[in-house]
Amino acid sequence: MRTEPVSVIDMNHTEPYSTDMNSVDAAHFRSVLSSYPTGVVVVCADSPRGPVGMSCNSFTAVSLSPPLIAVCAADTSTTWPGIREAGRFCVSVLASDSAEICAQFARKGADRFAGVDVRPRSHGPAIGNAAAWLDCELYDEIRAGDHTIALGRVVALERREEAAPLVFWASKYGTVASLPVEELMMTTPSTRYRMPVGFGPAPGPRQKADGTEWTAEQTGTMRQEFVTLDFLGRAEQLERLLPPGFRLRGEPVVSVQLGFFRDLYWLAGRGYGVLHPLIPVTYEGRTETIEGNYMPVIWEGLADAVVTGRDELGFPKLAADFADLDVDLEHGSVTGTASWLGFEFFSAALAGLTEVRDARPPAGAPMITFKYVPRTGRHGAGGADIAHVTTGAAAANGGGQAAGKNPAGGYRRWEGAGELTWHHAKFEQLPTTFHVVNGLADLDVVEYRGAAYFQAALPGHVISGDGQRIVEPAEDLRHAAF
Ligand SMILES: Cc1cc2nc3c(=O)[nH]c(=O)nc-3n(C[C@H](O)[C@H](O)[C@H](O)COP(=O)(O)O)c2cc1C
Repeated sequence: MRTEPVSVIDMNHTEPYSTDMNSVDAAHFRSVLSSYPTGVVVVCADSPRGPVGMSCNSFTAVSLSPPLIAVCAADTSTTWPGIREAGRFCVSVLASDSAEICAQFARKGADRFAGVDVRPRSHGPAIGNAAAWLDCELYDEIRAGDHTIALGRVVALERREEAAPLVFWASKYGTVASLPVEELMMTTPSTRYRMPVGFGPAPGPRQKADGTEWTAEQTGTMRQEFVTLDFLGRAEQLERLLPPGFRLRGEPVVSVQLGFFRDLYWLAGRGYGVLHPLIPVTYEGRTETIEGNYMPVIWEGLADAVVTGRDELGFPKLAADFADLDVDLEHGSVTGTASWLGFEFFSAALAGLTEVRDARPPAGAPMITFKYVPRTGRHGAGGADIAHVTTGAAAANGGGQAAGKNPAGGYRRWEGAGELTWHHAKFEQLPTTFHVVNGLADLDVVEYRGAAYFQAALPGHVISGDGQRIVEPAEDLRHAAF
């Protein structure tokens, strides 16, 4: 076998390479190169003789500035001369369900456009359900052996994010579905999936039913109605609730918030009840230190909010039932409760409430939560899949942060005194969450530090949780005991 390398430097050969391929057998060449997986594009143009198009897997990105792509067209192609004459073309990156379209656009003598969803674009016909489209001007052509390297200057491009690509490998069509799910998701980085993933991207705070994103205007106005009760606790008791990396910040004053979010755009106008304590902390992560309020648990009254918020935001959410707050402002009192499985585990009573004139929402500190997803396995063996902190500037903390950042239209606030009770629970009453309620019920209230009732109207998007992000822990906590 000859070892002399085939020259690939001189692309401007005017003569085709000899067909003996320097003794590299053509079939062998094809077969070995078929081990290289590619996507497939269909290149279409409005030629002087009508629409033309051909399948190509020789597509590649070439240059960022100017934005250039390339396809290699065989000298034998009868389609390419029409595209050349048009001087412009549209590249459709085929989606995973388009193997038949690919075959059709390679078939000699066939009406390649028959039965295909074709849409006109500025630079030529486009395959309707493609994964991406690139509108190109023909930039240059370089002779290379028995092919022409055609360079296209991209003038416009678009991507259908939820579409998986068609893959061509070993002369067969396939998809990337056999890749690990995380890798599949990384191909569509701005598309959200959650369990169950087989049904495609998930709608939710970011997406409308048709997959497009909500604009701030479309999210409308949401309403909040909350009571907040502050009490001075004991530092040593509160410290026990903190995961590694957290320490108490300032006086150990716990703020407990109970209330409702209403008119939420991402729930098609529905709302739900919320209950959570906040503990003032400093968190020291691997690269950043955050002063904020740690939320050790949050109960919510709607499964959709619980599930999505645990998965996406990393909030430690549990389910609860909330009766409407019993509000009697004439007599300055508000009471509220939370229960689960018929067991009332929390009650709050505020009295002596008077309205604060020209009230402004307090500027709260950012909320910090600890996201923990246990590994699947017997009795929790194997630790966690995920154990890290998440934080966000505008989150569902009952007003402080969100309201502080977004001066509310209808903010009204009444202040007075109040008391709260966490009712100790037995296993039989709250089989999977009694330890959480009891952990809070065991906290001493050294003294109450005031109570408030507020109503607010906020831009709908402030509790979408889109600002939530990961803070890397200083140490790997996936095998930690807390
Ligand atoms: C998966 C696949 C990839 C192809 N890639 C190319 C390519 O990169 N360049 C090319 O000239 N032809 C390629 N072809 C062949 C063309 O699609 C088409 O069959 C060929 O151009 C002959 O038709 P024509 O005379 O109408 O051009 C490919 C075909 C298939 C099925």
